[in-house]
Amino acid sequence: MAHVTSAKMFADAYKNGYAIGAFNVNNMEIIQGITEAAKEENAPLILQVSAGARKYANHTYLMKLVEAAIIETNLPICVHLDHGDTFELCKSCIDGGFDSVMIDGSKHSFQDNIALTKQVVDYAHAHGVVVEGELGRLAGIEDAVNVSAEDSSYTDPAEVEEFVTKTGVDSLAIAIGTSHGAYKFTPDQCTRDERGVLVPPPLRFDILEEVSRRLPGFPIVLHGASSVPQEFVNIINANGGKMPDAVGVPEAQLREAARMAVCKINIDSDLRLAMTASIREHFAEYPDHFDPRQYLKPARENIKKIVKHKLVDVLGCAGKADAAR
Ligand code: G3H
Ligand code: 13P
Ligand code: ZN
Repeated sequence: MAHVTSAKMFADAYKNGYAIGAFNVNNMEIIQGITEAAKEENAPLILQVSAGARKYANHTYLMKLVEAAIIETNLPICVHLDHGDTFELCKSCIDGGFDSVMIDGSKHSFQDNIALTKQVVDYAHAHGVVVEGELGRLAGIEDAVNVSAEDSSYTDPAEVEEFVTKTGVDSLAIAIGTSHGAYKFTPDQCTRDERGVLVPPPLRFDILEEVSRRLPGFPIVLHGASSVPQEFVNIINANGGKMPDAVGVPEAQLREAARMAVCKINIDSDLRLAMTASIREHFAEYPDHFDPRQYLKPARENIKKIVKHKLVDVLGCAGKADAAR
C-alpha cells in the first residue's frame, strides 16, 4: 500500500458514521506507536505534521519514517500538513510529497480566508492533493487569548456554503467548543462531579447539525479533540509533573460527533500525555536508567495503547482500512 489522500476515507466514514484519526507525529517512536496500533486494528490513518514538527524533525526524516511505516504496516496512510498558515508552506509540503494540506486562514477576514484557501486549493488539486480549510477560531495555538467560551469563536453556519463553494475545499474544520492543548476549559467554565473532577461544557452539536444540514455529505473536521485522560495527568502529577486542572473533551461527545458529519478527529495532546506519563513513571521507578531505549520503549507502547483505544472506542474506524485502499 502507498500514500493515499483522505477522499475515500472520508466518503466511507461519512456513510458509516465513524471518523478517521488524525494523529500528530514528531519522531520515530510516535510514528511507530500510532502505526503499530492501526496495523493491529486494520484502521485507515492520517498522520499529520505541523510546521513545528517539520522544523523539529525535518521534512525528509518525517517522510522517510512514514514511508517505512507504510511498508511495515501495508496500511493506507494519508500524510497531512496540520495548520498550514501560508501558501508557501502548503506548496512546499505538496511539492515534498504530502497527500493533504490544511490551510488555516481562520485568523484572516472571511474574504481573505476565501482568497488564500482558494489559492492553495488550485495548486493542490492540480497536483492530486486534497485541502482542509477552517472557519471559526479555536483557542490555543490559533489565538493567544482564550476565546473558547465566546460565541464569536464558534463557526457561523451561515458562512459555510459560500466558503466551500468559492474555495473548492475538500473538508472543513469548524469550531464547536473544542480547543488545542491540555487545558481546554478553565475551571470556571466547568462544573465538578461528585469526585471533584472537572466536567467541561458540552460541545455545540447544534452548530455541527446546522453546518451539515447546509453541506449535506460534506466531511467536517474537529481540531482540539484530545480527551486529556485523567489517568495520564495523575501519573504525571504523581511523578514530579505539574499539570493542575488539565481537562479535555469527553470521549462520548467525540464518538457522537463521529456518528454525525465529523470525518476527521485531530489528536495530539493525548499522545504527548501518554508519552510523558510513561517517561516520568519510568524515571521515578528506575532513577539509574540513562539508555533512551529503556524509557522510550514503554513510552512508545503507551502511545500504541491509547491510539488503539481511540481507534476502537472513540473513532469507530477499526477494521475500516480496506475502504480507503
Ligand atoms: O494543533 C496543533 C498541534 O497540536 C501541533 O502542535 O505546533 O506544537 O506541533 P505543534
Ligand atoms: P489536541 O491539542 O486536542 O490534541 O488537538 C490537536 C489538533 O487539533 C492538531 O491540529
Ligand atoms: Zn488543530
